[in-house]
Amino acid sequence: MIKVNFERAEEFKNLGSLKDAAKANLKELLSGKIDMTGWVDHPIKYDKEEFARIKEVAEEVKKEAEVLVSIGIGGSYLGAKAAIEYLSDYYGNKGVEVIFVGNGLSEKYLKETLDYVEGKNFYINVISKSGGTLEPAVAFDKFKVLCEKKYGKDGAKKRIIATTDKAKGILKEEADREGYRTFVVPDDIGGRYSVLSAVGLVPIACAGFDIDKLMKGAEAARSIYTLVDENKNDAMKYAIVRNLYYNAGKDIEVFSTLSPNMQYFAEWLKQLFGESECKGNKGIFPASLNMTADLHSMGQLMQDGKRNMFETFIMIENDYDKDRVKYNDKFFVNDLNDIALRATEKAHYTGNVPVIEVKVEEQNETTLGELFYFFEMSCGISALILGVNPFNQPGVEEYKKNIKELLK
Ligand code: PA5
Repeated sequence: MIKVNFERAEEFKNLGSLKDAAKANLKELLSGKIDMTGWVDHPIKYDKEEFARIKEVAEEVKKEAEVLVSIGIGGSYLGAKAAIEYLSDYYGNKGVEVIFVGNGLSEKYLKETLDYVEGKNFYINVISKSGGTLEPAVAFDKFKVLCEKKYGKDGAKKRIIATTDKAKGILKEEADREGYRTFVVPDDIGGRYSVLSAVGLVPIACAGFDIDKLMKGAEAARSIYTLVDENKNDAMKYAIVRNLYYNAGKDIEVFSTLSPNMQYFAEWLKQLFGESECKGNKGIFPASLNMTADLHSMGQLMQDGKRNMFETFIMIENDYDKDRVKYNDKFFVNDLNDIALRATEKAHYTGNVPVIEVKVEEQNETTLGELFYFFEMSCGISALILGVNPFNQPGVEEYKKNIKELLK
């Protein structure tokens, strides 16, 4: 299970008035009375029939295809991307290669991805809760044509899988009209909280990872991070500490990771916290660093720049293969990473950047499920303490509205 170390975060010793607010907020999240909180009980209440279908489809895709083209943006993209990166070996995948498109509007990227996929055997998973987001719609338009050209209408029907709303939206209408297989983005779970639904599970399973273990990890985390007791619930404590720093003028949180395959996990965190918390002219700006590389660049700012930050390290204790790599007689390389971490934490802490550690032992499906749930819960509580609705995104909707207007 996740270990959270608050020793280098002074404020944790005095959780003060926010403790009661946090408890009340957690109770509210658990009550089911707030909209879009389906993710709270999702690890125990998810649709088992759909889950079995996801596993079946993944087996088929792994058997039939070399590539899965996953089309989506924001919450319909980052969770799966983060998970596959976190779980994959650096060179080589267990299942099919998962390629992500529709997460931007670079014409060059789209064209080169179409060219790359053209000669390969592929399936498509198009993911959009609303069904009408521009970026995935553009990519899907092109990949659908490629798929039909290569496999014919019937072949494409088998190879295109849509994950969207159960009843409404352009994508749902198209999927029904064309006869695509569909999976559902639950009504009561928003984009950035949806990684443990079909949104994330389909690509993760196709990439060859064990989604049963992922859900078990989330379930175990749920049993702890729903406890209304700050001494037992580190997700709640973390939410309180973040707000205490924010109130003390530290309005940037730096998520620091120590393994190259954690960078997209940090991107997922940035979306989760940025989109959930930063509204109404409030919020903690989520940033990320990848250690030790960034110590040689952004380390300057962390040590010596404006003192308006705190830092959360997300760490893997055993970040090594079974064949260990030694530097000399004394040290494994992972020990050096650990020493670098200690040195950095000490330096940042003495430089008035409080440090929180969130640590798991191994990088696997179970710990990933735990981490997803831990951060979702702490983000929900933290945003409520801050006095904002964690589950809407008026700023994002504004951009979507403007782009629709301009396209007219
Ligand atoms: O968290 C969110 O709600 C957003 O980031 C959405 O996931 C993103 O805008 C994509 O939306 P959709 O899945 O409707 O295409």
